[in-house]
Amino acid sequence: MAKLWAGRFEKPTSALLDDFQSSIPFDRRLLRCDLLGSVAHATMLGEQGILTPEDSAAIVAGLQGMLSDLQAGTLTVDMGAEDVHMFAEAELTARIGEAGKRLHTGRSRNDQVALDVRLFAKDACLHADTLLRELLHTLLTLAAAHTRTVMPGYTHLQKAQPVTLGFHLMAYAQMFKRDVKRFRLAYDEADVMPLGSGALAGTTYPLNRERVAELLGFSDVTDNAMDGVSDRDFLLSFLSAASICMMHLSRFCEELILWSTNEFGTATMDDAFATGSSIMPQKKNPDACELTRGKTGRVYGDLMALLTVMKGLPLAYNKDMQEDKEAFFDAYDTLVKCLPTFTAMLASTRFDAGAMEKSAARGFTNATDLADYLVGKGLPFRDAHHVSGTLVGKCVREGRELADLTLAEMREVSPAFDGDVYEAISLRACVERRSLRGGPAPEAVDASIRRVRDWLEAMRDEARR
Ligand code: ARG
Repeated sequence: MAKLWAGRFEKPTSALLDDFQSSIPFDRRLLRCDLLGSVAHATMLGEQGILTPEDSAAIVAGLQGMLSDLQAGTLTVDMGAEDVHMFAEAELTARIGEAGKRLHTGRSRNDQVALDVRLFAKDACLHADTLLRELLHTLLTLAAAHTRTVMPGYTHLQKAQPVTLGFHLMAYAQMFKRDVKRFRLAYDEADVMPLGSGALAGTTYPLNRERVAELLGFSDVTDNAMDGVSDRDFLLSFLSAASICMMHLSRFCEELILWSTNEFGTATMDDAFATGSSIMPQKKNPDACELTRGKTGRVYGDLMALLTVMKGLPLAYNKDMQEDKEAFFDAYDTLVKCLPTFTAMLASTRFDAGAMEKSAARGFTNATDLADYLVGKGLPFRDAHHVSGTLVGKCVREGRELADLTLAEMREVSPAFDGDVYEAISLRACVERRSLRGGPAPEAVDASIRRVRDWLEAMRDEARR
């Protein structure tokens, strides 16, 4: 196809360069956004008298026809086009003739591509938002069912103190709640309309930029034309929100993988979310978790790729920026595949409350509470810590647990012990006494579930406004 910019050239481009610089194989995903942007641009050009009403109407009708063909799957994209913008314009002109050549008045591909990517990014943020809120709902339901399911909490992957599964799950709910906020910030960043920036220095035509913003549902217009065409911060914000969200999923996956080992034995993935081995008949592998953990790396890679693309670019547009799209699409595709798969897998995972409680009862998760008990009897915490540690040492040597010690054995180490010590170091008491806001006590976790639920409700109302 002849280049729309070929006027000053004496030769056609090399086939090598054509292939090298072509972005249509990936930026064709922007076609819908591109057409919507052009409809708004042409509408405004007509309203401003920059185009005649007839030309404007013909262009808009032509673009609408392309949009419905695209929707119907009957629009054939010319893969020989340089990029999606060139294709759209050539196709429009083929459909409506001369008027099609007037669409690009007062516009550059530089502000056009910035607009398209912003439109796409806004949708991507909303999509992530929806999927994250579905995950949060699943988590809240699961957490509410397990506010009394005692399990060991860990530091250094060594048993630390008893918590509950509901409490543990709500830690992830906090992470995903922050992710929702991050995608909302990325949305706000993308929600600024760049058309009118032209190639880099604005345009001489009396465009109505606010009108285009209004037609396309943008909250604001960009305030500097050079920044308008060279800014990809909103994509970096999306990629960074996606990276952090993937990191959260990956940590969660890591725990589910651990919990479903024979050694932990506290979680069982539904058969629908596990895979077998071609040689070992007994295997049931947590592939969905492993793949999510693995795909986290590629999303980080996408973020690093774009950060690196942008770091040395002089103002304003540089073709390097064409590299933004594959990284962004890849991260988006990966995220929106991981999130619903993870949610469904989590919802169908069975947690073994008995095994969790049994595990919490081994490994001295109540040693801190034993020390706290002695503090209650008047010992300084340091001394109480030492007494508890001495008893732990004895139990380790004898293969016993603290609750197995007789009162006489405890008193040998400190006369402060009384018969009420057993109740004080029961797992239930250990958990229930930690009732401060943010703690694992059932009522504290219930309150935390309620707060996240209310927050989700408020978000929904806000979205409806
Ligand atoms: N395909 C290009 C991109 O994705 C569109 C902008 C091209 N602008 C230019 N001046 N060559 O960045």
